[in-house]
Amino acid sequence: MFMPTVFSALACFAVFCHICSGDNYILDDTIGLGRAFDGIGGLSGGGATSRLLVNYDEPYRSQILDYLFKPNFGASLQILKVEIGGDAQSTDGTEPSHMHYENDENYFRGYEWWLMGEAKRRNPNITLIGLPWAFPGWVGHGENWPFHFPDITVSYVVSWIIGAKQYHELDIDYVGIWNERSFDSKYIKLLRYTLDKSGLERVRIIASDNLWEPITSFVLLDQELQEAVDVLGAHYPGTTILPEVLKTGKTLWSSEDYSTFNNDVGGGCWARIINQNYVNGSMTATIAWNLVSSYYQELPFGRDGLMTAQEPWSGNYVVESPIWITAHTTQFTQPGWRYLQTVGHLNHGGSYVALTDQKGNLTVVIETMSHDHSVCIRPPLLPYNVTFQRATFSLKGSFVSVELQVWNSKLDFKTKKPVFFQKQNPIKVSNGSFTLDLNVDEVYTVTTVTTGQKGSYPEPPPSAPFPKAYKDDFNVRKCSVFSEAPNFADQTGVFEYFMNLTDPGPHVYTLQQVVTQRPVTWVADADQTISIIGDYNWQDVNVSCDVYMENEKGGGVFVAARVDKGGGSVRSTKGIFFWIFADGTYKVTSDLSGESILAEGLSPTRAHIWYTLSLSVKGNYASGELNGHALWTNVVVLKPKNGWAGIGTSAFELAQFDNFSVHP
Ligand SMILES: *[C@@H]1O[C@H](CO)[C@@H](O)[C@H](O)[C@H]1NC(C)=O
Ligand SMILES: *[C@@H]1O[C@H](CO)[C@@H](O)[C@H](O)[C@H]1NC(C)=O
Ligand SMILES: *[C@@H]1O[C@H](CO)[C@@H](O)[C@H](O)[C@H]1NC(C)=O
Ligand SMILES: *[C@@H]1O[C@H](CO)[C@@H](O)[C@H](O)[C@H]1NC(C)=O
Ligand SMILES: *[C@@H]1O[C@H](CO)[C@@H](O)[C@H](O)[C@H]1NC(C)=O
Ligand SMILES: *[C@@H]1O[C@H](CO)[C@@H](O)[C@H](O)[C@H]1NC(C)=O
Ligand SMILES: *[C@@H]1O[C@H](CO)[C@@H](O)[C@H](O)[C@H]1NC(C)=O
Ligand SMILES: *[C@@H]1O[C@H](CO)[C@@H](O)[C@H](O)[C@H]1NC(C)=O
Repeated sequence: MFMPTVFSALACFAVFCHICSGDNYILDDTIGLGRAFDGIGGLSGGGATSRLLVNYDEPYRSQILDYLFKPNFGASLQILKVEIGGDAQSTDGTEPSHMHYENDENYFRGYEWWLMGEAKRRNPNITLIGLPWAFPGWVGHGENWPFHFPDITVSYVVSWIIGAKQYHELDIDYVGIWNERSFDSKYIKLLRYTLDKSGLERVRIIASDNLWEPITSFVLLDQELQEAVDVLGAHYPGTTILPEVLKTGKTLWSSEDYSTFNNDVGGGCWARIINQNYVNGSMTATIAWNLVSSYYQELPFGRDGLMTAQEPWSGNYVVESPIWITAHTTQFTQPGWRYLQTVGHLNHGGSYVALTDQKGNLTVVIETMSHDHSVCIRPPLLPYNVTFQRATFSLKGSFVSVELQVWNSKLDFKTKKPVFFQKQNPIKVSNGSFTLDLNVDEVYTVTTVTTGQKGSYPEPPPSAPFPKAYKDDFNVRKCSVFSEAPNFADQTGVFEYFMNLTDPGPHVYTLQQVVTQRPVTWVADADQTISIIGDYNWQDVNVSCDVYMENEKGGGVFVAARVDKGGGSVRSTKGIFFWIFADGTYKVTSDLSGESILAEGLSPTRAHIWYTLSLSVKGNYASGELNGHALWTNVVVLKPKNGWAGIGTSAFELAQFDNFSVHP
């Protein structure tokens, strides 16, 4: 697919190269073009990675969205992929389903609808993708497998696509199968059939958001499957494909990639894979997990987003290096442009790609990322060397430009003064070619496109810890467009605003845990539900909350302090948990599973009565109150030493919470 580069390199090895005339690379569209470019994107969800973003005040929230989506401003993303919420833990939290129960439908839960709308408002051309990580329990009929009843799962997924259009005017362009889990050919074919039958012929199918195999073999052996699948999407391909993959003739994407801490090495990883996923793997889209780090940083994969916006309480956010690395490609291309066949590796390390709109526009993106400054989280990266090089690019075919725009980023790990997305003086093309001196760890865009811009806003407010004293009576429901209360990050179960208009008392607006059946999970969700909030470094705190058990058959609720975990390991969460149960007992445990009991006894508690629970932790001691009266005191608590506050239930069961407060 790519042309070998010119021979001069043979005559001058690395050591002497700086005195050589340089290497020559040809950019030619007369020999035919390469594949169509599909875009660079970000992934929100998988899971709950944009959770804290929605609660930023203006103008900061809009500024963050502009850095992500606004054309010719920042990352100017061309693809937004979102999780189709499935009520289960999907990495950094749970995202609500549009159908918690079989007879339930609501297309206003969570924040992905809102996010897609904001992205579309900024860039009407943005490509939208939906993919499930998990499914509500009823979809699996009690089994942890979504394909036993393919018709149920298909109609569940298609209803999400129809709902996007009906309630939000959003056209979903692509849909996936089951993130990084098994697929089922029968399901994929039925999905295609049902989409077509529902007037959604334009919605294309990606499979299987896992490794290249086994989907490749299945597609090669099954004509009907081959027709149903539009894109083969692999995760973290390390820029490589298997030879069989090309035989499918399919469009190839890195449909999830990056997942690397967003410092400058993260930027280097992103620069390398954006180019080399095509150069080395013929992949025409690369999608970063995740779009924006908007989850508590101590949850798994903290700050693995294109930028950081994890402090709605302060308004602080950070435009990290991957934003500007993205801009090097996205601001100077459009999906639908074609790669040239003349793309490749540079002789002394790094790579170049060239794309054209086939109307005379040319964009060349060059990266010279060294190994140690571009390692991604996975897969391992074999050693290689990059050295300074002088590269001459000869324009052939329809590229007759006399002047090219130049944008440059230097990661510069020596001086630690990196430069990102800086516009340089245009290059004069002389005798059909231009020459660049390429240092190690640089990105260049050389292009006919003149519309590039490095957008900026005034510095946001400084970073600050989560407020020491915090309360929420959930009455803001009256005006919020979101279904979830600010700053609560559900780790198992889903906690939503609830409104009881028949309640004459103080608990009309509450927060309700709504998942009543174990979902078809993606990881091992806890058997209890839990939502966390606050500062991971909190030690001595008082957590209070009004609680209301709705489970007739028993069940219980808790407030917690020093909660030490979330994400995929939520089952092993430790902390200090104060539980009351509808059977008239209470318990204090050092774990979410409720097995390590520190104290227990009788309490006059039952379902359908509001109680105020209060837990106070100081040093090695904890005490608990029920309705303002001490229920247990001075229980010794040794581990963990710090963590978030939390609320939750003893099982997948309904319960309500009101008047949450935490203070030192
Ligand atoms: C959207 O796509 C059209 C057609 O390719 C293009 O002319 C237009 O500039 C694009 N708009 C943005 C904001 O990218
Ligand atoms: C390019 O991809 C091939 C397989 O597709 C792989 O063997 C090779 O190591 C890759 N090269 C680089 C430089 O990543
Ligand atoms: C390049 O694209 C711009 C719009 O971005 C267009 O106006 C121009 O005609 C195109 N062609 C060339 C050769 O610049
Ligand atoms: C990189 O360069 C060093 C020093 O010149 C050399 O020892 C090493 O073998 C090279 N590594 C590779 C992968 O070429
Ligand atoms: C221009 O380039 C051609 C080859 O592309 C070469 O033969 C010629 O000598 C060059 N002219 C100048 C003035 O460099
Ligand atoms: C709503 O409030 C009424 C009156 O207090 C109460 O009887 C009922 O159980 C409440 N419903 C829920 C779901 O909390
Ligand atoms: C919440 O607590 C405050 C005291 O901190 C109290 O005034 C208020 O009535 C409580 N609200 C409800 C709904 O119980
Ligand atoms: C927690 O703080 C409240 C005041 O907000 C206080 O009334 C209560 O006694 C404290 N709880 C415990 C268990 O000490």
